[in-house]
Amino acid sequence: MQNKPAIDTLKPYTVRDVEYTIKLDANESPNYLFENGIDFSTTPFNLYPDTNASRLRKTLGEYFDMSEENLMVGSGSSELIELIIKTYVAPGETVLSFDPSFTMYQVYTTIHGGVYKTVPVEEDMSGSIDRLIREAGQTNPKLIILCTPNNPTGYQFSREAVTKLIRSTDALILLDEAYMDFAGEGASFLRETPFYDNLIVSRTFSKAFGLAGARLGYISAGIPIIQTLMKVKTPYNVNAFTQEIGIRALKKKRTVHAFIDDCIARRDALASTLRDLGLTVYPSRTNFLFVRSEREDLDEALLEKGILIRNFASYAPGFFRISVGNQAENKALISALKEVL
Ligand SMILES: Cc1ncc(COP(=O)(O)O)c(C=O)c1O
Repeated sequence: MQNKPAIDTLKPYTVRDVEYTIKLDANESPNYLFENGIDFSTTPFNLYPDTNASRLRKTLGEYFDMSEENLMVGSGSSELIELIIKTYVAPGETVLSFDPSFTMYQVYTTIHGGVYKTVPVEEDMSGSIDRLIREAGQTNPKLIILCTPNNPTGYQFSREAVTKLIRSTDALILLDEAYMDFAGEGASFLRETPFYDNLIVSRTFSKAFGLAGARLGYISAGIPIIQTLMKVKTPYNVNAFTQEIGIRALKKKRTVHAFIDDCIARRDALASTLRDLGLTVYPSRTNFLFVRSEREDLDEALLEKGILIRNFASYAPGFFRISVGNQAENKALISALKEVL
């Protein structure tokens, strides 16, 4: 059966199927919220879950002190990012972002017949909002996706820069704040979305909450945007167990904040050691470090020692993204690097 022509250009999302002992390639966190497992004995899994996820959205609203009417949840923020593209980007319309950024923006745009365009980041891995605005003036995008802090560079855009972008255009703006928990709520636009008619913010439980396996993400937006997206989403898109996990996780705010503080301290210590070892380490407001090495096969050399990191040769040879591990993992990473560099 012939598929749509756009699909021919896609490559499957591959996750390396290799033996490893330490996994530092996907910016996950340890299972620190539910170390003793979760009791699902009262979760009614014989019934379809609440398709509006009302309790979960209400709990999210209480957590962030905002109305649940401005919130929507999905099976990971990936589902919501695709939903936004599917809903707002017609075939032939342009989606604009930075390069490098989260690879799935391009994949979803392509699947839905959109045209994906990018502005390169600067040599220091910052992104120029003025360049993005100029490019938007020329390409007239329907949607601009700004990942802040950006994956894989770790760069966080200032509030002033983001505000300038939102005010500069009629395009829909999606701020992907998957890593914002690590940068601090002060930098987030999650609560600002009700004041704009062209702004959506996406977040996830996969990173700072350590719940990547539960598949839970959320967005905030003005009520008209939420209502439109609710019409398009798959019914029952977040399963009953995941809704329950989300509600219970949101009751552990203090534990989450303590974990984030600890992760930031480990990140900064790791960054400084990696610099001492001769790597170029770019400033990061996330739970990972974007680094450059003279050794273009650094990932292979570390894998021989059981440590998995992410190669970004797709951006340029010698670039890698390393998730911040726990103390023992970071220690093992440092000793392995001392041997291979
Ligand atoms: C920037 C960014 N956005 C979105 C996602 C998707 O996260 P999830 O679908 O697990 O919520 C990721 C995952 O790595 C990411 O790095």
